[in-house]
Formats: sequence, structure tokens, C-alpha cells
Amino acid sequence: MCAMPLRPSADEAIAAYRAAVVANRAQVERLRDLVPPAGGDFWVDRAARFRPGALDAEEMPALEAIALPDDVWMDIGAGGGRFALPVARLVAQVIAVEPSAAMRAVLAEAFASEARTNYEVLDLRWPPSPSEASQVPVVDVSLIANVLYDAADVDAFLAAAEAHTRRRCVVITSDRAPSTPDADIWQALYGEALCPLPALTDFVAVLGALGRCYDITTFPVRGPEPVTLDRALDEMRWRYWVAPGSDAEARLGELFHQHFGQPSGLIQLPPRRNYSAVVSWEPAPR
Ligand SMILES: C[S@@+](CC[C@H](N)C(=O)[O-])C[C@H]1O[C@@H](n2cnc3c(N)ncnc32)[C@H](O)[C@@H]1O
Repeated sequence: MCAMPLRPSADEAIAAYRAAVVANRAQVERLRDLVPPAGGDFWVDRAARFRPGALDAEEMPALEAIALPDDVWMDIGAGGGRFALPVARLVAQVIAVEPSAAMRAVLAEAFASEARTNYEVLDLRWPPSPSEASQVPVVDVSLIANVLYDAADVDAFLAAAEAHTRRRCVVITSDRAPSTPDADIWQALYGEALCPLPALTDFVAVLGALGRCYDITTFPVRGPEPVTLDRALDEMRWRYWVAPGSDAEARLGELFHQHFGQPSGLIQLPPRRNYSAVVSWEPAPR
């Protein structure tokens, strides 16, 4: 990652954010043996994990404090509806922007399970193209939860969110991207230091450099429970980009045993992130 001064200009902060995303992408492309099917949906194997209730949503109290009953919210990168559904119980309508078909199917099933109809889905990748932008409404609140870690053009993403938001933009992001592998295991597996994705502090640096006056609330995240080696590999192999049954996966299993093996035979994986944060701000005047 580029070294960044303590008070970067907006250009410096945005360039450093982009550099971290690009470095991570280049490293993964060089080392990975897990390759998604051509033209496939990246989320197809993991979409079910994002259905409401499947993962903790410890940030909800901060969203409840922002939501008003007459609000229209837009959840950009809504996934399986982990936040879209509980927010829809509080506001008039939720527009879920989601380009993954697998995620959209999980979201639709979650809303159907409680016969909730106060939502719309937009199948598009943010920021919208000029022709798509005219079909995207201006809403009261935009929510961007766990989407910005690999956004190389974070400035364009935020500018479009602000352009479509009247009252509050809200970002949920953690101290580390939830996809982050353990740095020591990565080093041992690949013989080089991990290039991590940008996360909370990098995002806040961008927002501060853009001159936004933001509120931030942090929420501790529970660490993982001990699990069997098979389960640890199921949960972690994609984070190390190793294919099932590969030599790299066998080596990853050995490393998990050496570093995190318990006397019980279970694997105690370290926390991937320590806390999550809800960052919100008033969009710049249009
Ligand atoms: C890690 S999931 C987070 C889902 C949900 N927001 C949550 O926190 O549970 C990231 C989601 O963002 C979507 N996504 C990624 N890039 C996007 C983009 N440029 N525009 C819209 N959605 C995007 C992905 O398809 C995926 O569903």
C-alpha cells in the first residue's frame, strides 16, 4: 500500500485506497489456484450465508437510530438482505441494488418468507452508467454495507451514492475486510507478505479528506468458535484462493494444525476482524 500522510489531500487518499485494491487484486491473480467459472456468479457458493439471520448484524442499532418510518432507503450491494430486510421493517421502502443473481434469489426468498412487499430490486453494479442513473431514484438514506473493500474507484462510488441521497449516506465497514486471510498463514503458504484490502481506517481517511463531517459508531465482533479441520477449510479456503483437493489446500490444512490446533484436535481460527463500524454523513449538496 502507498504510504499516506496523516492529513492526505482527497487525491492522495483516493489514490492510496485504489493502490491497495489494485495491489490485492494483482497478488490474488498471480497466486490463486481457485478460479471462478468464466462468466459465473462470484457469490453462487456463499450467497446463503448472507440471508437475514445467518450472520450477526451487530450494527443494526445504529441503523435503527437513523431510520424514520416514512423513509425510502437504498441498500447498495444488498446481498441476501441481511440489512435490507430488517431495515424494511422500519421504513416505508427499501431499494436493493444487487448485481449477483444468487444474492438476489436469497434476498427475494427472505422477503417472501415474511410476505413483505415494500422493496424493489435493481439489478445493476454501482455506480450506475449514465443511462442507468436516470432509473435510480433519489432516496432518503443510502446504505453501503461491506461493499467498498474492493472498490478501486471509491470516489466514483461515493459520488454516485451522494447524488442519489437526500439525508444520510451510511457505510458499514470493519477494521479488516471480512475476506482477509491470516497474514502469517498467507506468508507461510505463499512466501510473501499479504497485500490486504483497504478497510475502515482507509475509508475514513478518504471521507475526511473529502471534507465530510461524519459520525462513527463501532461494534465489537465475536471471534470464531473452534471447529474441525474440514470445517475450517470450508470456511477459509476461498479466503486463501486455494482450490478444494489441491496441494495448496493440503498445505493450508497443515498450517492450520501447526498454528491453530487445539489439544482437543479442533482448530481455533484467529479473529479475522475485531470490530465493525457504522459511518454516516450528510451528502454534499447537489
Ligand atoms: C460481502 S457482500 C455484502 C452484502 C450485504 N451488504 C451485507 O453486508 O450482508 C457484498 C455484496 O455487494 C455486491 N456488490 C459488489 N460490488 C458491487 C457494486 N459495484 N455495486 C453493487 N453491488 C455490489 C455483491 O454482489 C455482494 O452481494
